[in-house]
Amino acid sequence: MMRHVTYSGEGGSILGVATSPLPIIKEKEVLINVVYSGLNRSDIMQRKGLVPVPKGESNILGLEASGYIHKTHVNSRFKIGDKVMCLVGGGGMAEYLAVDEDLCLKVPDEMNLAVAGSIPEAWLTAFQLLYWISNLTRDHPNNKYNSKSIEDKVILVHAGASGVGTSLIQMLKNILNIKTVYATVGSEEKKNFLQNEIKVTRAFNYKDETEKNFDAEILKINGGSGVDVVFDCVGSNYWQKNADVLNVDGEWVLYGTLSGGSVNGNFLGQLLKKRIVLSSTTLRTRSNQVYTFLTIFRINI
Ligand SMILES: NC(=O)c1ccc[n+]([C@@H]2O[C@H](COP(=O)([O-])OP(=O)(O)OC[C@H]3O[C@@H](n4cnc5c(N)ncnc54)[C@H](OP(=O)(O)O)[C@@H]3O)[C@@H](O)[C@H]2O)c1
Repeated sequence: MMRHVTYSGEGGSILGVATSPLPIIKEKEVLINVVYSGLNRSDIMQRKGLVPVPKGESNILGLEASGYIHKTHVNSRFKIGDKVMCLVGGGGMAEYLAVDEDLCLKVPDEMNLAVAGSIPEAWLTAFQLLYWISNLTRDHPNNKYNSKSIEDKVILVHAGASGVGTSLIQMLKNILNIKTVYATVGSEEKKNFLQNEIKVTRAFNYKDETEKNFDAEILKINGGSGVDVVFDCVGSNYWQKNADVLNVDGEWVLYGTLSGGSVNGNFLGQLLKKRIVLSSTTLRTRSNQVYTFLTIFRINI
């Protein structure tokens, strides 16, 4: 038997521990003895009943984990005792986790399991957004009309101090060498952290009366020019500001709807007027399609 985290009560606010049988590994799967499992916003939303568990996934919380390989299948590329981290559609917050081995990454010797347990979900989401969903890193007709080089593109990251936000910003700055990255945050502490530690060009505290109109602020700073790409997990509350601050041929990458998913107003008209490309994605529902993408990530780290 193994122990796993449970939730119950109003809004899933009562956390507990229950026991259940060890998962049985299927073809291509390995069994991981979990040491750490990262906590992500999606776990909190699942606990509150705001996001459904995708069909076929474990309803135990936890979208990522790190630990030791406990059992393998015959042709596995792993051996018992290997230190791994993995991305899963659920089930991470348990002592044992059965996972397709293609969703596992070896943990480098110099990295501890606590760090490894918080990497896959945030960093693979950021990697997905930059290299798979957005057109930033690939040839796209809009990139020709907007003739800036990738380093000169101006980027806005909402919820900049979130797990995904901080991963995105670090990749934008340190891998793609983008010079101008703006972010929105909900406190002065987060603003100072992003400006002083992660070195964004400027962070805007949307709860501050003078900074909540970050769209107008950015246009003012840039002499009327806006941003080329917005990475948006906020949705509803920011749609008008996104439409206003994006440049012609800009790109709006939607990967969450923290403030809701409804829009009212001339949404499509504004997209059309500026030839804005709207892309969206969610990683969890595609757990069986990310193998190639994980392979690319493995090559890149
Ligand atoms: N599509 C995908 O594949 C994918 C994968 C992973 C995560 N996600 C999504 O990415 C988002 C971030 O996830 P995470 O785990 O990195 O989150 P996190 O670390 O828990 O941070 C989320 C932050 O978002 C901000 N926020 C929350 N509600 C907001 C609102 N109504 N308006 C503006 N900001 C708000 C808050 O920061 P402030 O205090 O700064 O407001 C909050 O701390 C979530 O929406 C999650 O579902 C999507």
